[in-house]
Amino acid sequence: MNSNPLIPVNTPLLDGNELRYLQACIESGWISSDGPFVRQFEERMAARVNRKHGIAVCNGSMALDAAISALGIQEGDEVIMPTFTIISCAAAVIRAGAKPVLVDSDPLTWNMDVSRLEERITPRTKAIMVVHIYGLPVDMTPVLELARKYGLQVIEDAAQMHGQSYGRSPCGSFGALSTFSFYPNKHVTTGEGGMIVTDDDALAERCRSLRNLCFQPQRRFVHEELGWNLRMTNLQAALGLAQLERLDEFVDRKRRMGRRYTELLSGIPGLDLALPGTAYAENIYWIFGLILKEDVPFDAEEMMRRLAERGIGTRPFFWPMHEQPVFRKMGLFHGERYPVAERLARRGFYIPSGLALTDAEMSRVAEGVSQSMRAGRQLV
Ligand SMILES: Cc1ncc(COP(=O)(O)O)c(C=O)c1O
Repeated sequence: MNSNPLIPVNTPLLDGNELRYLQACIESGWISSDGPFVRQFEERMAARVNRKHGIAVCNGSMALDAAISALGIQEGDEVIMPTFTIISCAAAVIRAGAKPVLVDSDPLTWNMDVSRLEERITPRTKAIMVVHIYGLPVDMTPVLELARKYGLQVIEDAAQMHGQSYGRSPCGSFGALSTFSFYPNKHVTTGEGGMIVTDDDALAERCRSLRNLCFQPQRRFVHEELGWNLRMTNLQAALGLAQLERLDEFVDRKRRMGRRYTELLSGIPGLDLALPGTAYAENIYWIFGLILKEDVPFDAEEMMRRLAERGIGTRPFFWPMHEQPVFRKMGLFHGERYPVAERLARRGFYIPSGLALTDAEMSRVAEGVSQSMRAGRQLV
Protein backbone atom coordinates (compact mmCIF):
# COMPACT_ATOMS: atom_id res chain seq x y z
CA MET A 1 0.00 0.00 0.00
CA ASN A 2 1.14 3.53 -0.67
CA SER A 3 1.46 5.59 2.50
CA ASN A 4 3.30 8.45 0.77
CA PRO A 5 1.43 11.56 -0.32
CA LEU A 6 1.42 11.88 -4.12
CA ILE A 7 4.06 14.08 -5.72
CA PRO A 8 2.18 15.19 -8.86
CA VAL A 9 4.01 15.22 -12.14
CA ASN A 10 3.22 18.92 -12.40
CA THR A 11 2.09 21.72 -10.10
CA PRO A 12 2.10 25.26 -11.50
CA LEU A 13 3.23 28.36 -9.57
CA LEU A 14 0.46 30.97 -9.50
CA ASP A 15 1.61 33.26 -6.71
CA GLY A 16 2.48 36.43 -8.64
CA ASN A 17 -0.06 38.90 -10.03
CA GLU A 18 -2.44 36.18 -11.23
CA LEU A 19 -5.15 36.79 -8.63
CA ARG A 20 -4.94 40.58 -8.93
CA TYR A 21 -5.31 40.50 -12.73
CA LEU A 22 -8.14 37.99 -12.56
CA GLN A 23 -9.90 40.17 -10.05
CA ALA A 24 -9.56 43.10 -12.45
CA CYS A 25 -11.37 41.02 -15.11
CA ILE A 26 -14.21 40.24 -12.74
CA GLU A 27 -14.52 43.79 -11.45
CA SER A 28 -14.48 45.30 -14.92
CA GLY A 29 -16.74 42.64 -16.43
CA TRP A 30 -14.21 41.98 -19.23
CA ILE A 31 -14.18 38.21 -19.35
CA SER A 32 -14.48 37.49 -23.09
CA SER A 33 -11.80 37.67 -25.75
CA ASP A 34 -12.51 41.37 -26.22
CA GLY A 35 -10.89 42.31 -22.90
CA PRO A 36 -7.67 44.36 -22.66
CA PHE A 37 -5.43 41.62 -21.21
CA VAL A 38 -5.61 39.65 -24.48
CA ARG A 39 -3.96 42.43 -26.46
CA GLN A 40 -1.37 43.07 -23.72
CA PHE A 41 -0.50 39.39 -23.46
CA GLU A 42 -0.17 39.12 -27.25
CA GLU A 43 2.09 42.16 -27.41
CA ARG A 44 4.35 41.13 -24.53
CA MET A 45 4.66 37.52 -25.67
CA ALA A 46 5.48 38.61 -29.25
CA ALA A 47 8.03 41.15 -27.97
CA ARG A 48 9.63 38.52 -25.77
CA VAL A 49 10.46 36.41 -28.85
CA ASN A 50 11.29 39.36 -31.14
CA ARG A 51 8.15 38.98 -33.24
CA LYS A 52 5.89 41.69 -34.60
CA HIS A 53 2.54 39.95 -34.01
CA GLY A 54 1.02 37.63 -31.42
CA ILE A 55 -2.36 35.97 -31.98
CA ALA A 56 -3.68 34.39 -28.78
CA VAL A 57 -5.76 31.24 -29.27
CA CYS A 58 -7.48 28.59 -27.18
CA ASN A 59 -4.60 26.06 -27.07
CA GLY A 60 -1.31 25.07 -28.67
CA SER A 61 -2.89 22.34 -30.80
CA MET A 62 -5.25 24.74 -32.54
CA ALA A 63 -2.41 27.24 -32.93
CA LEU A 64 -0.81 24.60 -35.19
CA ASP A 65 -4.03 24.06 -37.16
CA ALA A 66 -4.36 27.80 -37.72
CA ALA A 67 -0.69 28.14 -38.67
CA ILE A 68 -0.92 25.33 -41.25
CA SER A 69 -4.11 26.76 -42.67
CA ALA A 70 -2.71 30.31 -42.78
CA LEU A 71 0.24 29.07 -44.85
CA GLY A 72 -2.19 27.60 -47.37
CA ILE A 73 -0.94 24.03 -46.90
CA GLN A 74 -3.42 21.72 -48.57
CA GLU A 75 -4.10 18.41 -50.27
CA GLY A 76 -1.07 17.06 -52.11
CA ASP A 77 1.41 18.98 -49.95
CA GLU A 78 3.95 17.37 -47.63
CA VAL A 79 5.19 18.70 -44.31
CA ILE A 80 8.32 17.24 -42.75
CA MET A 81 8.21 16.79 -38.97
CA PRO A 82 9.64 14.55 -36.24
CA THR A 83 7.87 11.25 -35.59
CA PHE A 84 8.61 11.76 -31.88
CA THR A 85 6.13 14.51 -31.04
CA ILE A 86 2.59 15.15 -29.85
CA ILE A 87 -0.24 14.18 -32.18
CA SER A 88 -1.29 17.84 -32.58
CA CYS A 89 1.55 18.35 -35.11
CA ALA A 90 0.53 15.55 -37.46
CA ALA A 91 -3.20 16.11 -36.87
CA ALA A 92 -2.97 19.74 -38.04
CA VAL A 93 -1.29 18.66 -41.28
CA ILE A 94 -3.72 15.81 -41.89
CA ARG A 95 -6.77 17.96 -41.16
CA ALA A 96 -5.51 20.34 -43.87
CA GLY A 97 -5.52 17.39 -46.31
CA ALA A 98 -1.71 17.29 -46.49
CA LYS A 99 0.75 14.53 -45.57
CA PRO A 100 3.18 14.45 -42.64
CA VAL A 101 6.59 13.11 -43.65
CA LEU A 102 8.47 11.81 -40.65
CA VAL A 103 12.04 12.04 -39.42
CA ASP A 104 13.68 9.98 -36.66
CA SER A 105 15.12 11.52 -33.47
CA ASP A 106 18.61 12.34 -32.34
CA PRO A 107 19.40 9.88 -29.53
CA LEU A 108 21.00 12.52 -27.30
CA THR A 109 18.82 15.63 -27.65
CA TRP A 110 15.62 13.65 -28.47
CA ASN A 111 14.86 16.28 -31.13
CA MET A 112 14.43 15.65 -34.84
CA ASP A 113 17.71 14.36 -36.33
CA VAL A 114 18.41 17.21 -38.72
CA SER A 115 21.02 15.17 -40.61
CA ARG A 116 18.09 13.06 -41.93
CA LEU A 117 16.02 16.01 -43.14
CA GLU A 118 17.27 16.50 -46.66
CA GLU A 119 16.60 12.90 -47.70
CA ARG A 120 12.88 13.45 -46.88
CA ILE A 121 12.44 16.45 -49.18
CA THR A 122 10.40 15.78 -52.35
CA PRO A 123 8.86 18.05 -55.01
CA ARG A 124 5.70 18.07 -52.86
CA THR A 125 7.40 19.32 -49.70
CA LYS A 126 5.96 22.67 -48.66
CA ALA A 127 7.20 23.08 -45.10
CA ILE A 128 9.33 21.79 -42.27
CA MET A 129 7.64 21.70 -38.88
CA VAL A 130 10.30 22.05 -36.23
CA VAL A 131 9.32 20.82 -32.74
CA HIS A 132 11.60 21.58 -29.81
CA ILE A 133 11.30 18.66 -27.42
CA TYR A 134 11.44 18.65 -23.59
CA GLY A 135 13.90 21.54 -23.04
CA LEU A 136 16.55 21.63 -25.77
CA PRO A 137 15.97 23.37 -29.09
CA VAL A 138 16.32 21.73 -32.48
CA ASP A 139 19.61 22.55 -34.23
CA MET A 140 18.12 25.37 -36.32
CA THR A 141 21.02 26.40 -38.58
CA PRO A 142 20.86 23.32 -40.87
CA VAL A 143 17.05 23.49 -40.91
CA LEU A 144 17.05 27.12 -42.02
CA GLU A 145 19.74 26.42 -44.65
CA LEU A 146 17.71 23.57 -46.14
CA ALA A 147 14.54 25.67 -46.06
CA ARG A 148 16.34 28.42 -48.00
CA LYS A 149 17.92 25.96 -50.45
CA TYR A 150 14.61 24.28 -51.33
CA GLY A 151 12.25 27.26 -50.85
CA LEU A 152 10.36 25.69 -47.92
CA GLN A 153 8.37 27.34 -45.15
CA VAL A 154 9.38 26.72 -41.55
CA ILE A 155 6.74 26.36 -38.83
CA GLU A 156 8.25 26.35 -35.37
CA ASP A 157 6.33 24.50 -32.65
CA ALA A 158 7.73 26.18 -29.54
CA ALA A 159 4.93 24.85 -27.31
CA GLN A 160 7.40 23.75 -24.62
CA MET A 161 10.06 26.40 -25.13
CA HIS A 162 9.06 29.64 -23.38
CA GLY A 163 12.28 31.31 -22.30
CA GLN A 164 14.63 29.08 -24.33
CA SER A 165 16.98 30.34 -27.04
CA TYR A 166 18.91 28.83 -29.91
CA GLY A 167 22.23 30.64 -29.72
CA ARG A 168 21.12 34.22 -29.12
CA SER A 169 17.76 33.96 -30.88
CA PRO A 170 14.69 33.15 -28.80
CA CYS A 171 12.73 30.01 -29.60
CA GLY A 172 9.58 31.36 -31.19
CA SER A 173 11.52 33.67 -33.50
CA PHE A 174 12.23 31.19 -36.32
CA GLY A 175 10.41 30.63 -39.60
CA ALA A 176 7.21 32.08 -40.97
CA LEU A 177 5.14 31.27 -37.89
CA SER A 178 5.85 29.92 -34.42
CA THR A 179 3.36 28.51 -31.96
CA PHE A 180 3.18 28.22 -28.17
CA SER A 181 1.04 26.31 -25.69
CA PHE A 182 0.05 27.63 -22.26
CA TYR A 183 -1.17 24.38 -20.73
CA PRO A 184 -0.47 24.26 -16.93
CA ASN A 185 2.76 22.28 -17.32
CA LYS A 186 4.28 25.05 -19.47
CA HIS A 187 6.62 27.77 -18.20
CA VAL A 188 3.83 30.25 -18.86
CA THR A 189 0.30 28.97 -18.31
CA THR A 190 -3.19 30.30 -18.96
CA GLY A 191 -4.92 27.07 -17.88
CA GLU A 192 -5.61 26.27 -21.51
CA GLY A 193 -4.23 28.49 -24.22
CA GLY A 194 -1.89 29.01 -27.11
CA MET A 195 -0.39 31.67 -29.34
CA ILE A 196 0.83 32.08 -32.89
CA VAL A 197 3.63 34.61 -33.40
CA THR A 198 4.85 35.95 -36.72
CA ASP A 199 6.54 38.95 -38.35
CA ASP A 200 4.38 38.77 -41.46
CA ASP A 201 1.46 41.23 -41.47
CA ALA A 202 -0.61 39.21 -43.96
CA LEU A 203 -0.12 35.91 -42.09
CA ALA A 204 -1.03 37.61 -38.81
CA GLU A 205 -4.21 39.01 -40.34
CA ARG A 206 -5.07 35.60 -41.75
CA CYS A 207 -4.55 33.92 -38.35
CA ARG A 208 -6.73 36.55 -36.64
CA SER A 209 -9.47 35.90 -39.16
CA LEU A 210 -9.19 32.09 -38.86
CA ARG A 211 -9.33 32.44 -35.06
CA ASN A 212 -12.56 34.39 -35.28
CA LEU A 213 -14.73 32.29 -37.62
CA CYS A 214 -13.59 34.41 -40.59
CA PHE A 215 -16.13 37.08 -39.67
CA GLN A 216 -15.78 39.94 -42.12
CA PRO A 217 -15.35 43.45 -40.73
CA GLN A 218 -17.97 44.97 -43.06
CA ARG A 219 -20.55 42.19 -43.23
CA ARG A 220 -20.08 40.28 -40.02
CA PHE A 221 -22.30 37.26 -40.62
CA VAL A 222 -21.46 36.79 -44.29
CA HIS A 223 -18.49 34.44 -44.73
CA GLU A 224 -16.16 34.03 -47.68
CA GLU A 225 -14.11 31.37 -45.87
CA LEU A 226 -14.38 28.87 -43.04
CA GLY A 227 -12.59 29.59 -39.80
CA TRP A 228 -12.87 28.39 -36.23
CA ASN A 229 -13.66 29.93 -32.89
CA LEU A 230 -10.18 29.72 -31.35
CA ARG A 231 -10.42 32.81 -29.18
CA MET A 232 -8.63 33.17 -25.84
CA THR A 233 -10.59 34.83 -23.03
CA ASN A 234 -9.49 37.89 -21.07
CA LEU A 235 -9.42 35.68 -17.94
CA GLN A 236 -6.86 33.36 -19.55
CA ALA A 237 -4.78 36.26 -20.85
CA ALA A 238 -4.79 37.84 -17.37
CA LEU A 239 -3.20 34.66 -16.01
CA GLY A 240 -0.77 34.54 -18.92
CA LEU A 241 0.39 38.12 -18.43
CA ALA A 242 1.10 37.53 -14.74
CA GLN A 243 3.00 34.37 -15.61
CA LEU A 244 4.99 36.00 -18.38
CA GLU A 245 6.22 38.66 -15.94
CA ARG A 246 8.07 35.87 -14.13
CA LEU A 247 9.39 33.88 -17.07
CA ASP A 248 13.08 34.54 -16.38
CA GLU A 249 12.66 33.52 -12.75
CA PHE A 250 10.78 30.37 -13.85
CA VAL A 251 13.50 29.39 -16.32
CA ASP A 252 16.18 29.88 -13.65
CA ARG A 253 14.17 27.76 -11.29
CA LYS A 254 13.77 24.98 -13.86
CA ARG A 255 17.48 25.03 -14.62
CA ARG A 256 18.29 24.76 -10.92
CA MET A 257 15.87 21.85 -10.66
CA GLY A 258 17.50 20.19 -13.66
CA ARG A 259 20.94 20.50 -12.11
CA ARG A 260 19.69 19.13 -8.80
CA TYR A 261 17.98 16.13 -10.41
CA THR A 262 21.14 15.48 -12.45
CA GLU A 263 23.21 15.42 -9.25
CA LEU A 264 20.75 13.18 -7.43
CA LEU A 265 20.20 10.71 -10.26
CA SER A 266 23.53 10.45 -12.07
CA GLY A 267 24.87 7.78 -9.70
CA ILE A 268 22.00 5.38 -10.40
CA PRO A 269 23.05 2.65 -12.85
CA GLY A 270 20.89 1.97 -15.88
CA LEU A 271 19.65 5.51 -16.53
CA ASP A 272 20.37 8.03 -19.26
CA LEU A 273 19.43 11.53 -18.11
CA ALA A 274 18.31 14.60 -20.02
CA LEU A 275 21.32 16.27 -21.62
CA PRO A 276 22.38 19.44 -19.70
CA GLY A 277 23.11 21.32 -22.90
CA THR A 278 24.47 21.45 -26.43
CA ALA A 279 26.80 23.85 -28.28
CA TYR A 280 23.80 26.11 -28.94
CA ALA A 281 21.64 25.94 -25.81
CA GLU A 282 21.51 25.12 -22.12
CA ASN A 283 18.61 22.83 -21.25
CA ILE A 284 15.60 24.60 -19.70
CA TYR A 285 14.22 21.24 -18.50
CA TRP A 286 10.63 21.80 -19.51
CA ILE A 287 10.36 18.32 -18.06
CA PHE A 288 13.09 16.12 -16.60
CA GLY A 289 13.24 13.01 -18.77
CA LEU A 290 14.91 9.67 -18.06
CA ILE A 291 15.71 6.80 -20.41
CA LEU A 292 16.20 3.23 -19.24
CA LYS A 293 19.40 1.89 -20.78
CA GLU A 294 19.28 -1.19 -23.02
CA ASP A 295 20.58 -3.53 -20.31
CA VAL A 296 17.74 -2.69 -17.91
CA PRO A 297 15.44 -5.69 -18.20
CA PHE A 298 12.11 -3.80 -17.92
CA ASP A 299 10.53 -0.90 -19.76
CA ALA A 300 9.30 2.59 -18.89
CA GLU A 301 5.75 1.36 -18.29
CA GLU A 302 6.92 -0.99 -15.54
CA MET A 303 9.13 1.71 -14.05
CA MET A 304 6.25 4.21 -13.97
CA ARG A 305 4.05 1.62 -12.24
CA ARG A 306 6.75 1.13 -9.58
CA LEU A 307 7.02 4.88 -9.05
CA ALA A 308 3.23 5.24 -8.79
CA GLU A 309 3.30 2.71 -5.94
CA ARG A 310 5.68 5.09 -4.17
CA GLY A 311 3.40 8.09 -4.74
CA ILE A 312 5.52 9.58 -7.51
CA GLY A 313 3.74 10.98 -10.55
CA THR A 314 5.22 10.31 -14.00
CA ARG A 315 4.27 10.61 -17.66
CA PRO A 316 5.37 8.45 -20.55
CA PHE A 317 7.34 9.99 -23.40
CA PHE A 318 5.55 10.71 -26.67
CA TRP A 319 4.44 7.72 -28.73
CA PRO A 320 5.76 8.15 -32.30
CA MET A 321 3.43 9.23 -35.08
CA HIS A 322 4.27 6.23 -37.28
CA GLU A 323 3.06 3.89 -34.52
CA GLN A 324 -0.24 5.65 -33.84
CA PRO A 325 -3.22 3.30 -34.36
CA VAL A 326 -5.33 6.18 -35.68
CA PHE A 327 -2.85 6.88 -38.48
CA ARG A 328 -2.34 3.20 -39.26
CA LYS A 329 -6.10 2.92 -39.72
CA MET A 330 -5.86 5.83 -42.16
CA GLY A 331 -3.24 3.88 -44.14
CA LEU A 332 -0.42 6.25 -43.18
CA PHE A 333 3.25 5.43 -42.49
CA HIS A 334 2.84 1.79 -43.55
CA GLY A 335 6.05 -0.16 -42.86
CA GLU A 336 7.98 2.92 -41.71
CA ARG A 337 10.44 2.39 -38.86
CA TYR A 338 12.27 5.01 -36.79
CA PRO A 339 14.34 3.08 -34.27
CA VAL A 340 15.51 5.97 -32.10
CA ALA A 341 11.99 7.32 -31.59
CA GLU A 342 10.69 3.80 -30.96
CA ARG A 343 13.29 3.33 -28.23
CA LEU A 344 12.54 6.74 -26.65
CA ALA A 345 8.86 5.86 -26.53
CA ARG A 346 9.42 2.50 -24.84
CA ARG A 347 12.32 3.37 -22.53
CA GLY A 348 11.61 7.04 -21.74
CA PHE A 349 9.42 8.76 -19.14
CA TYR A 350 9.51 11.86 -17.03
CA ILE A 351 9.41 12.53 -13.32
CA PRO A 352 7.78 15.39 -11.39
CA SER A 353 9.03 18.58 -13.01
CA GLY A 354 6.53 21.32 -12.10
CA LEU A 355 7.59 24.77 -11.00
CA ALA A 356 6.21 24.32 -7.49
CA LEU A 357 8.31 21.19 -6.79
CA THR A 358 10.40 21.49 -3.59
CA ASP A 359 13.95 20.27 -2.91
CA ALA A 360 12.58 17.76 -0.39
CA GLU A 361 10.20 16.38 -3.04
CA MET A 362 13.06 16.07 -5.56
CA SER A 363 15.07 14.08 -3.01
CA ARG A 364 12.08 11.80 -2.43
CA VAL A 365 11.64 11.34 -6.19
CA ALA A 366 15.33 10.44 -6.60
CA GLU A 367 15.13 7.97 -3.73
CA GLY A 368 12.00 6.47 -5.31
CA VAL A 369 13.74 6.15 -8.69
CA SER A 370 16.72 4.46 -7.08
CA GLN A 371 14.54 1.98 -5.16
CA SER A 372 12.33 1.30 -8.19
CA MET A 373 15.37 0.53 -10.35
CA ARG A 374 16.58 -2.01 -7.79
CA ALA A 375 13.12 -3.49 -7.16
CA GLY A 376 12.41 -3.58 -10.87
CA ARG A 377 15.63 -5.48 -11.58
CA GLN A 378 14.77 -8.06 -8.91
CA LEU A 379 11.42 -8.72 -10.57
CA VAL A 380 12.92 -10.33 -13.62
C1 LIG B 1 5.31 20.08 -28.72
C2 LIG B 1 3.88 20.37 -28.44
N1 LIG B 1 3.12 20.86 -29.42
C3 LIG B 1 1.81 21.15 -29.22
C4 LIG B 1 1.21 20.93 -28.01
C5 LIG B 1 -0.25 21.17 -27.85
O1 LIG B 1 -0.56 22.17 -26.93
P1 LIG B 1 -1.95 22.18 -26.17
O2 LIG B 1 -1.91 21.12 -25.11
O3 LIG B 1 -2.02 23.56 -25.58
O4 LIG B 1 -3.01 21.93 -27.17
C6 LIG B 1 1.97 20.42 -26.95
C7 LIG B 1 1.37 20.19 -25.64
O5 LIG B 1 2.03 19.84 -24.68
C8 LIG B 1 3.34 20.12 -27.17
O6 LIG B 1 4.10 19.60 -26.20
